Amino acid sequence: MSKLKYTDIREKYIQFFKNENHEEIPSAPLVPEDDPSVLFVNAGMFPLVPFLKGAKHPKGKRLVNSQRCLRTGDIDFVGDSYHCTAFEMLGNWSLNDYFKKEAINLTVTFFVEKLGLDIDKIYATVYQGDSTIPRDEESISVWKEIFERYGIEAKVGKGERIEPRGKEENWWGLESGGPCGPDSEIFYKTDKELVEIGNNVFMQYLLEDGEYKDLGRHNVDFGGGLDRLVAIIQEVNSIYETDIYKPILEKVQELNDEHILESERIIVDHIKAATWIVMDGIVPGKSKQGYVLRRLIRRAIRHGKKLNIEKKFTREVAEIAINQFKEIYPKLEEQKENILKIIDDEEKKFNQTIQNGLKILEEILQEKSQFTGEDAFTLYETYGFPIEITKEILKEKGMELINPEGFEKAKIEHREESRSASTGMFKGGLADTSEMSIKYHTATHLLLAALQKVLGEHIYQKGSNITPERLRLDFPADKKLTDEQISQVEKIVNNAIKQRYDINFKEMKKENALKLVPFAAFTERYGDIVKVYYVGPEDEPFSTEICNGPHVKNTSELGKFKIIKQENVGAGIKRIKAILE
Ligand code: ALA
Repeated sequence: MSKLKYTDIREKYIQFFKNENHEEIPSAPLVPEDDPSVLFVNAGMFPLVPFLKGAKHPKGKRLVNSQRCLRTGDIDFVGDSYHCTAFEMLGNWSLNDYFKKEAINLTVTFFVEKLGLDIDKIYATVYQGDSTIPRDEESISVWKEIFERYGIEAKVGKGERIEPRGKEENWWGLESGGPCGPDSEIFYKTDKELVEIGNNVFMQYLLEDGEYKDLGRHNVDFGGGLDRLVAIIQEVNSIYETDIYKPILEKVQELNDEHILESERIIVDHIKAATWIVMDGIVPGKSKQGYVLRRLIRRAIRHGKKLNIEKKFTREVAEIAINQFKEIYPKLEEQKENILKIIDDEEKKFNQTIQNGLKILEEILQEKSQFTGEDAFTLYETYGFPIEITKEILKEKGMELINPEGFEKAKIEHREESRSASTGMFKGGLADTSEMSIKYHTATHLLLAALQKVLGEHIYQKGSNITPERLRLDFPADKKLTDEQISQVEKIVNNAIKQRYDINFKEMKKENALKLVPFAAFTERYGDIVKVYYVGPEDEPFSTEICNGPHVKNTSELGKFKIIKQENVGAGIKRIKAILE
């Protein structure tokens, strides 16, 4: 194996381009800062889109870096020799400066002269053209010249040294549109296969509203996966054998006796990716980046189960992954404990549910001998099973998900249900259970009780809405409260807070509960058995409400109550907004 470490190869690349008057720019975070069109930076050029379109870059027209990227689109290929989700992409750019000839020459000089790759093993592809955009003759002649210089005969054609190919292969741009153009890929012939090690994109076009327009500039966007290049330089057959991944792979191998290489590689890649994503500020969750992170961690754990790793293991693996990259990303080391804890917590959570989830999956299969999108949603919602994992388990059993659209449909329906539960009807249960919302929930009970004391027992809750910032209560009243009544209500609520009342509930039959709370709203929504919440002593409560909770334990947790607004909303209905300070 070559003595060059991956950090050396990375550094050589940056140095080479710096010597060619490129300025080094830092790797941007994985989560795009102002662009919601993708969840993660998936190519080195992504953070540079505004500059490729023409904005002036403060560092000039020639840039270089190694950018961390995440490609979830490749997740199903992870496990083979060359795919991964998180990787670094070496990149150099010309912002309307040099073009095809210099770009391709710079790439070849670096690969051959600086890294010592064998020119005889290099193959190139170029854009073959179509009815609107011509064949890339310029790149063809640049490549011919280069090969001739090295004394290599270079024919142009299918399977030849220089191969023209179509838009599918030799055109590059982000899926969301923007700067794009024909590209020229560079392949290296290993013992087994041709491996792509770099790509020069000639960005002269702009994809907008589905149309290719002239960008009015000639940019170059070079990108090359560091991992693949390192595999070739270190003369190993897979990226997982390079010094980028090897210590992580060895750790996973030490943890199991099954040695299913594909699963081992999946764990290595996914846990490494998870450490980077958490470093960039994401926590596992139900949507967007948080969901991808959850899916990666949970998929790694699933493969751990396949390898019969019985104990918790992600933390140990993540520790090595952090160690591997801390030189490049000091933030990994600084946030090490936090990153490890987040990954470990997610494993705990998943372990708690996975057994139940698998059991339910088996039960459904036994009952119906098929598994639908709706079933997958139940597993997702109740047990936190990402649908992709459900699909994978089914695939292992030689089955498929029936009616996969049912998953999305059930998800949308569920979302609508929880939305309506949180608007004006929290008596059925509080949708948002953040600490502040729970406080406002209890404060709403206090406010209602105070209004009943000031305006009369007939006052009931017509509607309510809670955010972490304030509460809102609608109630029947012909006239607005006077200033004096407002301060009376505030005083009563604040006094209840001062009294340090405990909050308790009892479950009882609905008919009995309604005797205690005659004006309970939305009675038709309650089941036969309901919860009755008391604020204060049960024999003489400050407030009694039928409600599902949750609530704080004691009113002293609430702080100071203040009414900030009173409004008319429709005939005979008044609205109060209040805060806790
Ligand atoms: N942006 C180009 C790619 O990702 C270089 O292939």
